[in-house]
Amino acid sequence: MARILGTGIATLDIINTVDGYPAEDSEVRAVEQAVRLGGNTANTLGILAQAGHQCHFAGVLAGDMGGQRITAELTARGIGLEYARRMAGGATPTSYIALNRRNGSRTIIHHRDLPEFGMDDFMEIPVETFDWLHFEARNCDELAAMLAYARSMVRDQPISLEVEKERDGLEQLWDYPDIIIFSRAFARGRGFEQPQAFLAEARAWAPRAILILPWGDQGAWAMQGDALLHSPAFPPPEVVDTLGAGDTFNAGLIHAMLSGRALELAVEDACRLAGRKVGQVGLEGLFKPTAMAAGEYLCPLASLPDPGSRGLEVELDGAMRPIFIVRRGHTVKGYLNRCPHIGAELNWQPDVFLDADQRYILCAVHGALFTIEDGRCIAGPCRGEALTPVEVTVEQGHVVLMSSKKAGA
Ligand code: FRU
Repeated sequence: MARILGTGIATLDIINTVDGYPAEDSEVRAVEQAVRLGGNTANTLGILAQAGHQCHFAGVLAGDMGGQRITAELTARGIGLEYARRMAGGATPTSYIALNRRNGSRTIIHHRDLPEFGMDDFMEIPVETFDWLHFEARNCDELAAMLAYARSMVRDQPISLEVEKERDGLEQLWDYPDIIIFSRAFARGRGFEQPQAFLAEARAWAPRAILILPWGDQGAWAMQGDALLHSPAFPPPEVVDTLGAGDTFNAGLIHAMLSGRALELAVEDACRLAGRKVGQVGLEGLFKPTAMAAGEYLCPLASLPDPGSRGLEVELDGAMRPIFIVRRGHTVKGYLNRCPHIGAELNWQPDVFLDADQRYILCAVHGALFTIEDGRCIAGPCRGEALTPVEVTVEQGHVVLMSSKKAGA
C-alpha cells in the first residue's frame, strides 16, 4: 500500500439533517445532528486510509476543543499527524451544514479563522518518501511555493491538485501538478455549462497535466493530452447524502491510479465510489466489499477495450471473489480469476488477462491458454480443464452480473 501526503484542511462539521431545506427567516427542527471530522483533504485521506494506504495530513490543527476533537478523529482513522502544524491556540475551521434528507443536498456555511499551512511547515516534510502528493488549492501564493518545492524533490511520484473553488492566484499553480481535479461548481463559476468546453479551456492553462472534471449525475470527464475520456455516473437507488462526494471521488481516483488502473478505468472507479457514497450517510465503510452483487452494473461496455479484459471483485454466494470479464465484439464472458492448474490468480498486471495476440485468455503464472468463449484450456499444464464461468450479460450498454445461483459453483 502507498504512502500518501495530503496538504489541505481538516474541519469540524456540524451537520443538521433536515426534512426539506428551510425557507429564509424560518425555524425548523433538525431530525438528527452529527458533529464530525470534515474538510476536503481530511475526508480524502480518511477514505484512502480505509483502502489500506498510509496517509499523512499536512495542515493546521488548532488547540481549541474542536482541534482536539478532529485530532482524535484523524488519529482514529490512522492518519499520521507528524507533519501537521499544531497550534496552542487558534480557532478550528467549522462548517455548519444543512443536509436535506429528501434529496441529499448539503448547504454549507463556513467559518474560517485559522492560519493556513505554509511553505515553512512544508519544508520540514520529507516529501520524497511519499508515493503520492495531494494538494488542495487554498492559499495560492504559499501553495505555489510548496508545489514548486515538491516538484523539485520528486520525479516519479504523482502530484495531484484539487481545485474546488475560485481563489486569487490560482494561475500560479497550473505548471506543477500531474493531475488537476476541478469541481463542477468551479467550471460553472467560470461560465461553462459543458464539461468538454471547460476542459478545452483549462488545457490552455495547464498544457501537461491530466485534467479531471466530475459532473454529478453525468459522471466525470478526463483529458489526457488532447484525448477526452468519459465515465458515466453510478447512481445509487436513492441519493441520501452528497456531503463529501467530491472528496470521495478524489480518493477513488488516487486509489485506482495507485493500483495501476488505466486512466479511463480509474475515472470510472472514482465515479463508482462517489456513487456509493451518495447512497449512504457519512464516509465510513466505502470500501466494504458489498457493491458488486448480482444484478449490479460491473462497468459500462464502452469502457472495455475490444478485445480486452478487466479484473473485478464481486460477491458470489455470499463471499467476495476475484473475477475477470473478457470482451470480444458484443460478447462479454466472465470467469473466476483462478487457474484450474494450481488455483492461482491468472494475471500479473491489473486488468491484463489476454495473450499478446488478444486471442486467448492467458494464465501469466505457467502460460496456460484458455478460449474466450467457454474458458476451455487448449494449451499448458491444465489442458482439457476449464475456467469456472461467472455469468454476466450486457444490458443497456452495461456489463451486469447475473444472479450468483447461475454463476459457476
Ligand atoms: C465536504 C467538505 C466538508 C467540509 C467542507 C470544506 O466536501 O470537505 O467536510 O466542511 O467540505 O470545504
